[in-house]
Amino acid sequence: MILQRKRILLIISGGIAAYKSLDLIRRLRERGASVRPVMTAGAQAFVTPLAVGALAADKVFTELFSREDEQDVGHIRLARDCDLILIAPATADLMAKMANGHADDLASTILLATDKPVLAAPAMNPKMWTHPATQRNHQTLVGDGIHFIGPTSGEMAESGEKGEGRMAEPLEIVAAVEALLDTGDKPLAGKKAIVTSGPTHEPIDPVRYIANRSSGKQGHAIAAELARLGAEVTLVSGPVTIPDPKGVTTIHVERAEDMRDAVLANLPADIAVMVAAVADWRVASAAGNKIKKQPGEAPPPLILAENPDILKTIGRHPQRPTLVVGFAAETQNVAENGRSKLERKGADYIIANDVSPETGIMGGDRNRVKVIGKAGDEDWPEMGKQVVAERIARLIASHFA
Ligand code: C5P
Repeated sequence: MILQRKRILLIISGGIAAYKSLDLIRRLRERGASVRPVMTAGAQAFVTPLAVGALAADKVFTELFSREDEQDVGHIRLARDCDLILIAPATADLMAKMANGHADDLASTILLATDKPVLAAPAMNPKMWTHPATQRNHQTLVGDGIHFIGPTSGEMAESGEKGEGRMAEPLEIVAAVEALLDTGDKPLAGKKAIVTSGPTHEPIDPVRYIANRSSGKQGHAIAAELARLGAEVTLVSGPVTIPDPKGVTTIHVERAEDMRDAVLANLPADIAVMVAAVADWRVASAAGNKIKKQPGEAPPPLILAENPDILKTIGRHPQRPTLVVGFAAETQNVAENGRSKLERKGADYIIANDVSPETGIMGGDRNRVKVIGKAGDEDWPEMGKQVVAERIARLIASHFA
């Protein structure tokens, strides 16, 4: 009964998915929440304030400069007198405004003035969602601490186009609201966790390096999720372009050897989750100066040396954390390779995924994993990396219950 007596400020912005917000209001209310609706001008072109107000059993707020509303409640109070602000649907335009701090209507002003958690359920045409501008805004908002649910893949209501951009279903949104408001649940309180994430860069000379396509999205999401469940988290991150997660101590490193040193320096810990795509090899002796191309000379050979295996080091360490989780990025024989890694590296779990280029997993937002544990394997369906992170964090917490 997490939603009992919770006050949700629901911002509806202008998209065809606004029709689903009517059902969303019902779902929230039947779980005991009160819903105070705010509609943008665009939203009112899709659903009427009359319908929204009737389902919410509350006044619908639409104007920033309404004397009556300002005297009655006021935009600052709207922004603060609630437990959570939910934006459903969140259009590309509203996301752009939020990312840039605009406050030119009631919805954007509330979002700038609030100190409450904000959950956005984006809905837009797939081309609009994948546009670099929207992706940039999304990253910015994630960095600002805005929570997201969806968008999901499927057919668009208006154009029949397929792709990512559909608003999450009302019940998925309700579950995300519940997860955010579920503050009493800190099963990892008092536990210390070390997470590695991202690629490593192995220098060839001061300007060149060997790298891989890891984005850090999965590792960062796991670090944030463990922190949300109460753990004290140190994230050791290779070079990535995504922001440091909130509520986590992040240490930035470049080379595998630096990553290992940072991990070892943070022992003892209760939990280790090694998600980083650590380079197996480094250049045996990186040049101190930029290697020059000499006319007529053969290209310089790259002699490689083996990097330390951080997971294995941790899995067999005298101060081994109680729970050690590794990842296995494979392009073939995912299950078999994962299981042999479990043994070889002394891990409790290996989360194996197929990173063949056609899966789009490496660098993408979605993941499909096989959880390989001592007791057996479990195939999880394809889901967002955020949801994978939530489930892995819950799995870890179950060991400390
Ligand atoms: O052997 P492989 O690289 O596939 O193993 C993957 C797992 O081992 C991941 O959890 C990764 O973070 C970890 N690893 C490591 N140090 C290495 C190589 C891999 O910690 N040098």
